[in-house]
Order: sequence, then structure tokens, then C-alpha cells
Amino acid sequence: MALKSNKAKMVIDKTFKISDVDSRIYGSFIEQLGRAVYGGIYEPSHKTADEDGFRQDVIELVKELKVPIIRYPGGNMVSAYNWEDGIGPRELRPKRLDLAWKSLETNEVGTDEFVTWAKKVNADVMMAVNLGTRGIDAARNLVEYCNHPGGTYWSNLRKENGFKDPHKIKVWCLGNEMDGSWQIGQKTAYEYGRLAAETAKAMKLVDPTIELVSCGSSGSGMPTFPEWEAETLEHTYDYADFISLHQYYGNRNNDTANYLASSLDMDNFIKTVIATCDYIKAKKRSKKTMNLSFDEWNVWFHSNDQDEKIEPWSIAPPLLEDIYTFEDAVLVGSMLNTLLKHSDRVKIACMAQLVNVIAPIMTETGGGIWKQTIFYPYYYTSVYGRGVALHSLVDSPKYDSRDFTDVPYLDQAVVYNEENDELVVFAVNRNLENQLLVDIDIRSFEGYKIIEHIVLENDNPKAINSIEYEQVKPHLSNKSYIENDILVAVLPKLSWNMLRLRKNEES
Ligand code: AHR
Repeated sequence: MALKSNKAKMVIDKTFKISDVDSRIYGSFIEQLGRAVYGGIYEPSHKTADEDGFRQDVIELVKELKVPIIRYPGGNMVSAYNWEDGIGPRELRPKRLDLAWKSLETNEVGTDEFVTWAKKVNADVMMAVNLGTRGIDAARNLVEYCNHPGGTYWSNLRKENGFKDPHKIKVWCLGNEMDGSWQIGQKTAYEYGRLAAETAKAMKLVDPTIELVSCGSSGSGMPTFPEWEAETLEHTYDYADFISLHQYYGNRNNDTANYLASSLDMDNFIKTVIATCDYIKAKKRSKKTMNLSFDEWNVWFHSNDQDEKIEPWSIAPPLLEDIYTFEDAVLVGSMLNTLLKHSDRVKIACMAQLVNVIAPIMTETGGGIWKQTIFYPYYYTSVYGRGVALHSLVDSPKYDSRDFTDVPYLDQAVVYNEENDELVVFAVNRNLENQLLVDIDIRSFEGYKIIEHIVLENDNPKAINSIEYEQVKPHLSNKSYIENDILVAVLPKLSWNMLRLRKNEES
């Protein structure tokens, strides 16, 4: 039977610049939750453990992803966390109830250990402070502990704990999802706005070089969105450098075409937050432009039911261990494209999370390590999506789905890496039945050749990976070609793709 094709068109030009891509959009997140830390990054009895108890097999895979910044320690957990519990001699650290996840926190790993681990994976730390049960004092003391050079109570304590040099943590989150009813110490927009502004003021007095993230809504579906953003920013606008966005999707109705269109919701969410920030900017007659930190994004729904069955107050229980499918990986690819297309305002983003907990990397406690399906679009976009993001003019056939109208079959993002003189096209074909032929006019990239076309495809949208087998992994395609400065990209049905082009053919 002949292969059915749809056709789309794109125009790419060097001058269609959106923005330099801030590499921090490829950030991630490790929460003291489930097996992210214990049995994930930290397992002193593991055969690959280093002198600090960190699993080197995990370190190697995280390094592969080139994750530039990692948010820590939460998440919901931070809203009842005493950071002081996690410093100093391990044997003196208290065990605490983690109310957010109904687990037992041993505090074996805390601030200093996490900073040590982050260095090993070449990442910066993005630290969140507790604005649920605590406030100004705990936050300013933590900044002093981490960033002050010495000669004060908290900075001397850091030195006594073995860390002579300051940790130099640049980016700080003013709490986590403070609009959510599930959050310990949930606040109204007014309560949060005032507390966040005063905390920010004190933190910046301790270290004026830090950057602060004001809490936005915990999702576009929150009833208080976007009024929460408008009201909180009235208070935090002058102190904060970013506002946060969080969003997770799931194919709960088993409707793949609709699910794959979820990145349109993400796009709309970002646009609405930008509009709200700019409204406050205008209202305040401010010269400053608020940037966005999309510091939690991913697919999260597979593990919801099994998490109900977890025994409360256990140590490092297997919580939020979603096993991702091929279609999840395609959506993750589109979410990354969406971040790139907004790189003029989204300057930080964190895939939530990194190891074991809704994660691209999975470990067995005491055992091996493996890559989830979503590892691949994250890997390729992080490694090759650096440079200048370019607008592209797109003409694609469209479809309607349960929640969305006019969904383009083609979803794309384009990055020009000036340093390597490399043009990179990330493209998703949302069509479940037909391949998509995309004629891409690469006018200002005359003489460029295809270095590689990487494809992630599978006949089964529900295909998964595991420690035993890898059903979903990328392969090279030689079907795309260039003719008269037109790049003809051949995108298989339901697929994620990366095409890299260069003038000289060496990769
Ligand atoms: O990433 C899992 C959880 O999702 C985080 O703890 C919380 O911030 C969000 O609701």
C-alpha cells in the first residue's frame, strides 16, 4: 500500500531572530521526594557510589543531558522544610515527617550535599525557600549560609561544615505553588505577594547579586489564574526577576490526537503570563521587563493511582514513578519547541523532574539505570538547541480535537548555532496516520547540507522503555534531502525529529 503524505511549508531566515536561547531553559528539578535523592542520585552502598555516596552511573547520564541548572529541594516538600535540618554532622540530623508527600525525611542529604552533587554534574543550583510555614528569617539566613563569604554566624557555620568557599547560588525561588490548596501554608495572592516582596527585599540585602523567582499559578487550570499573577506582581514586581509557571499534561482520556495538542495550551499559558506581566509593567510605569521561569513542566499522570497505595511515612517510597510512552516523548518534544519559540521571555525552564520521580532517568535501587522515552527529545534539544532561536513561517494542514481547534500537524522550532555555523530544526508530526513532507525554504542558508536527521518513531504510541528493553530509541533517517535551497524534510507519521545542517559536512 502506498504511503499517504500530507504537505507543509516553512520559511527559515537568519534574520528572523526571536532571541538568544538562554541555556537555562534546559534546566531540571530534583525534589527531596520519593527515590529522586535516596536511591536516585545518592546511594552510598551502590557499586558505582563515589566518595560522597553519589551514584556515578546517574552522574554520567545527567552530564549527557547537559543540564545547566537544577531546582532544589522542592516542590511541595519545601513548604514545610527546615533547611537547618539538612546541614552539619549527619548523625545529628533529625528525621522529620514530610507532610507534602507523607514520607519520612531522614535529612541525610541537604543543602551542602546537593551543591556538591550539582558541581559533579556541571549544573548550577536553583534554590527554593520555604514560604509556607516559614518566611523572611529562614530565607535570609539560608542566603547568608550559602552565599556570604564568612565572618558571620551562618557563613561561619558553612565553613565549619567543611565548605570554605560560598556556594554562590544565583537563582532563588520565593516559595512553591503558594496558590494551591495542597500546599502547606497556602496563601491568598495578597498574603503571598506581601510576604514574597518582604522576603525578596531581605534576601537581596544579604546578596544583591541573586535573581529571584516570584510564584506564579501552579497551572493554567487554576481558578485564580491569571488574577494571581496580576495581584502578586503588584507586590513583587520591583524585587523579582522572574515569575514561575508550572504545567503537567496527561493523556487521561486516551485520545492521542487531543493529547498531542496540549503544547498549544502551554503556548497560550505562556502568552497569557507575558500579557499579565506587561500589564503590571505598564501600570507601574516600570522600565523593567519580567521574564518567565517555567520551572516545572512535563507529563505526569501514569503514576497517580499507584501512588494512592503507598504506605505513609516510609523512607524514599517509589512515588511519582511514571513510565513514559512514545506519545509522551512526542509531546515532550513539542513542549521543548514551545519553550524555544518563547525564548525571548522564557529564560529558565525545568523539566520536572530528573531522576526516578516523573523523570527521564530511572534507576533501580541497588541496581541498574535506564533511559525513559522522554530522555531523547530532552537530550537532543538540550545538546543541539543552543544559539539563536529563529521564527519560522509555517503553513501546515490542521485538525480539530476534543479541546483544541486548528491544531497544526507540524510543530517546529528552529535554532541557529552561530558558533558551529549549524542550523537545527526540531519538528513533530502530530499526524497519527500519515507522514508529513515539509518543504523548508532555507534561503539564507545557501549551500548548507544535512549532517543528520534523527527520528523518534514507533508504530505503537504506548511503547515504553524499561531496564530490560528499549522499545523507543532514536535512529538516523536518510529520507530528507535538499534541492534548490529547499530542504524537504520527511517526517514519519507520529514522530519527533531533529535535522542538523551545516555548510561543511563534518558533524
Ligand atoms: O513535581 C511534582 C510536584 O508538582 C511538585 O512538588 C509540586 O511543585 C508540583 O505540584
